[in-house]
Amino acid sequence: MDYAWTFPGALFIPRNMPIPNEQKVLLLKTERGDFTIEPYGVDKPGPGEVLVRIESTALNPVDWKIKAWGYLHTVKEYPAIVGTDAAGVVVALGEGVTKFAVGDKIFHQGYFANRLATFKQYTIISAEIAAKIPDNITFDQAATIPLGIATGVTGLYAQAREGGGAELTPLWKPGGRGKYAGQPIVIFGGSSSVGQYTIQLARLSGFSPIITTVSPHNNDFVKTLGATHTIDRRLSSSEIIAEVKKITSEPIKIVYDAISLGSTQEIAYEITASGGTLVLTLPSEVPDEKLTPYKKIVFTLGSVQVPEHRALGIELYQNLTQLVASGEIKPNPVEILPDGLAGIPDGLERMKKDLISGKKLVAHPQET
Ligand SMILES: NC(=O)c1ccc[n+]([C@@H]2O[C@H](COP(=O)([O-])OP(=O)(O)OC[C@H]3O[C@@H](n4cnc5c(N)ncnc54)[C@H](OP(=O)(O)O)[C@@H]3O)[C@@H](O)[C@H]2O)c1
Repeated sequence: MDYAWTFPGALFIPRNMPIPNEQKVLLLKTERGDFTIEPYGVDKPGPGEVLVRIESTALNPVDWKIKAWGYLHTVKEYPAIVGTDAAGVVVALGEGVTKFAVGDKIFHQGYFANRLATFKQYTIISAEIAAKIPDNITFDQAATIPLGIATGVTGLYAQAREGGGAELTPLWKPGGRGKYAGQPIVIFGGSSSVGQYTIQLARLSGFSPIITTVSPHNNDFVKTLGATHTIDRRLSSSEIIAEVKKITSEPIKIVYDAISLGSTQEIAYEITASGGTLVLTLPSEVPDEKLTPYKKIVFTLGSVQVPEHRALGIELYQNLTQLVASGEIKPNPVEILPDGLAGIPDGLERMKKDLISGKKLVAHPQET
């Protein structure tokens, strides 16, 4: 076994815990095929990486879309493992890793490559885009954060280019906190996972009012996150636009559509003021005849794993533990699925049928 010092005079601590040769994974054997539980090898961490024993992994809409549609070539090779949210324990350190020790509890965003995905019992992550889980939240709560917050962060703060964002000053940069005080923002889908994190980021960036569309049973909940006004998401387009106008007469320069269905995109684009930016989480479906050169549309890619968002991701993960520990960023409410990885396919079906409201489904891979 490989050993490392913690500090001079301290006891030796193991650099690596015993690691099985084999794990269980949820495998999509063929494009648009069925999920099965299969034995699979355990990868070794390379330089700068750690191996994580996943205690909790969260489900996201992209996971059912990949299964149902072979989605947008997100997954290039089959058999494929999906899942991109993990919270767990560091069990081995790759060369050069000093940020974490074996036994640390960490959370991170996975990626659509079998080595980095999270519907499995062990996964690999670069230490620079992972963070320690603070004591005030559980593994389950931590697993709800990575993809959702990444999408809020890239949408608001990444450069205004394809896959980027509205190019606001990140809240952790000098002058970033509260910078947009007095400026309105409209967030479509405030009770969705992405919507919940985007409301909280908008609050920390100073936006006010923060107007969001939800089902009325989520009104009080999204106000605990920072929404100042809610609008019933089932109202017609013209009613939603009229409700926004009743709340503010200021030009709305930032509109974030966390839902990004064709129907929400059209209203969101109309609400966006001239000179403003509409952030989408799915590709634009705004009809050509409605487009004007005076409003920007950006479809954000909510991943800190891709090279274009890596630097932003490193900054996010340098600040994330503290943001959560302080209670400034709250995790999504959680529902735990039964049967470990085997419970995931049913959970994805429920998401596909639009049966999940205001919470994140989480599975425990070690209970498979
Ligand atoms: N581009 C990217 O990188 C990226 C990253 C993450 C997610 N996404 C996409 O973003 C979307 C949201 O993902 P998510 O994980 O946040 O979803 P989610 O949490 O599973 O979404 C469920 C929520 O959607 C809300 N909702 C559904 N239709 C709505 C509508 N017409 N108006 C307002 N709210 C509506 C529901 O609100 P109520 O219960 O209050 O009605 C429910 O709380 C998905 O399409 C996902 O694929 C993209």
